[in-house]
Amino acid sequence: MISQDSINEVMSRADIVDVVGQFVRLKRRGTNFLANCPFHNEKTPSFNVSQAKGIYKCFGCGKAGNVVTFLQEHEKLTYPEAIHWLADYYKIKIDETERSPEQQQQQQLGESLRLLNEYATNWFHNCMINTEEGQLIGLSYFKQRGFRNEIIERFRLGYNPEQADVFYRDSIKKGYQADLLEKAGLIKNRNGIYHDAYRGRVIFPIQSMTGRILGFGARILKSTEKAPKYVNTPENEIYIKHKVLYGMYQSRQAIAKQDECFLVEGYTDVISLHQGGVENVVASSGTSLTEDQLRLIGQLTKNLTILYDGDAAGVKAALRGLDMALSQSFNVQLVLLTDGEDPDSFIQKHGSSRFHEYVKAHKQNVISFRLQVGLSEVGDDPVKKSKLVNEIAESISRINKAEDFALQAHFIREAARKLDVDEAGLITLVNKNIRERIEKDKDQVRISERQKSRDAGIAEIGPTHPDDSHPPELEARQVPGQPPGVQITPDEEQEWQLLRVLVEHGHEQYDDNQTVANHIEQTIDPDFLEDKTVGALYAEYFKHKARFGDVPETHYFINHPDSAVRNRMANLLHPRQEISSRWKEKYGIESLTGAMVYVNDVDSTLAYFQVKKLIHLKEDAMKKLSVEADPVTQKVYEEHIMNLIGMQRELMKQHATVVLKLSKRK
Ligand code: UTP
Ligand code: MN
Repeated sequence: MISQDSINEVMSRADIVDVVGQFVRLKRRGTNFLANCPFHNEKTPSFNVSQAKGIYKCFGCGKAGNVVTFLQEHEKLTYPEAIHWLADYYKIKIDETERSPEQQQQQQLGESLRLLNEYATNWFHNCMINTEEGQLIGLSYFKQRGFRNEIIERFRLGYNPEQADVFYRDSIKKGYQADLLEKAGLIKNRNGIYHDAYRGRVIFPIQSMTGRILGFGARILKSTEKAPKYVNTPENEIYIKHKVLYGMYQSRQAIAKQDECFLVEGYTDVISLHQGGVENVVASSGTSLTEDQLRLIGQLTKNLTILYDGDAAGVKAALRGLDMALSQSFNVQLVLLTDGEDPDSFIQKHGSSRFHEYVKAHKQNVISFRLQVGLSEVGDDPVKKSKLVNEIAESISRINKAEDFALQAHFIREAARKLDVDEAGLITLVNKNIRERIEKDKDQVRISERQKSRDAGIAEIGPTHPDDSHPPELEARQVPGQPPGVQITPDEEQEWQLLRVLVEHGHEQYDDNQTVANHIEQTIDPDFLEDKTVGALYAEYFKHKARFGDVPETHYFINHPDSAVRNRMANLLHPRQEISSRWKEKYGIESLTGAMVYVNDVDSTLAYFQVKKLIHLKEDAMKKLSVEADPVTQKVYEEHIMNLIGMQRELMKQHATVVLKLSKRK
């Protein structure tokens, strides 16, 4: 654990423009900086960085955050790694608190293995480049396979000499312990005598997403019958086979940027594709894809293209990863290579443009692929065929998003033709599958219906934030820090907006007599805040104000210890686009200037918040009224309800006036 003091120091020193500028070319635009977004492909820049607020936001893809989030996303670092990165960069010494002895030991062992692997990687590489045997055997092998120096360096390839224990003896001399060397899989103990595990083999270091060496693959050079082609590191504290993907470190940025990941079988496929300019590729290393590996890819993209040999084993391997990928909602495409080619041989023979052409021409979606493989197995067997028809119908039924309607129709036609069955019959079968799934999802549907009708009740209020800083189409509906698909209630959104206004404008003058913070404190009863986090932050804010006589700085929330708060605040406080012509088009509202912008922002946010709460109070009172038997109490409730309706009407009128005032200011 890094101490909070250290985190604070790092955060106070970090300059977002400085850090982002290490990776992205920033151009000054007014008070903000602008660039082409590093997280998605674009031609016109929509990536905004605000130096003052210490945050970035892309108006194209919606990615937003602070300097730490940027490093996490861009460099694929964990939170502590990002803090360490900044500490290194700004030469700040950080203290980390103690861990339990067990954790320490575990961590120490992992750390020792990492250091050893780093040393070994350099040793093998050095041996290949600088020794005679290395050059004659190891390097010339790679050269003969068409690998150029630059790619050999990038993948840190190496060689282990043929003589029994050269690496072992040198490592012991340098102070490495035999049992650690053995645990790392670098040496083997045979009858009390140690020898090198990879002797006479070329070495492929296997790196983590952040570039640490986790283990090795070592390939034999001669085709001896009994020795396996590759020897891999045994599982240990840091090499966990089902969690690594070869090439992840070198490919991670290209995968995110291209928004597609190629999956191949072997080390040499990854390397050759890289050399050919195809850098968004990883290998599952001969085993079928695991859930952990998919999760790793899923951090970068949901588009997975599997490139396997067209032989029976390749097809089987491709099919194995499929269901899992679908259930993790990947968009999976398959490309089979024929004529005994693998991606390595293909790209070396034909080059990258032929490679891309081939992929484009032979990309098959899951259903076409299933159809093709299934049909080749069915033959004349009617039972097998019936089973296949059912399977295909089930698969097609999963494509039932409204926008995929045409695609589904296309698959039905294609499948009916290829399976030689009646199209209407297949449609019935697909629909049956859809119905069954809808039945299951019904509860979910009911909940979201209720939500919609609640939204509709206040739809007449018009633009939520009638100032140019809040074009509604830019509002982030997604809660950062929550998985996609989680719906936030409209109320929660309003409560966060209230907090945003506080954080952003609290220190400014609301009118001649009071600041925005004072005005909000007077107007809003914190008991109305239903969202626990907002409630706590609201209290935190006014506690700070009471204690120091001044409201907390924006940075206090952007760098909040709670990462969910950090993310959400960064998103709410995103650097705004300077002018919004769309607002004028849509509502005839001119851009505001000066104090009017934030005062209006405060007013409309408060009004909207209050209207929401009044609606709930009214609903609540009406519910009570409906079960109330006593006529006197009924009367009280009725008056209360009329009161609430009056207040609501008044607020909405005020709010509408604000909108009106704005549209007149031409
Ligand atoms: P391949 O036999 O296709 O190897 O196995 P390759 O990477 O294409 O190597 P070359 O081109 O023949 O030199 C695919 C992957 O399966 C794993 C390795 O990760 C390999 O890259 N494998 C294969 C093993 O782990 N052990 C083996 O004995 C064979
Ligand atoms: Mn190969």
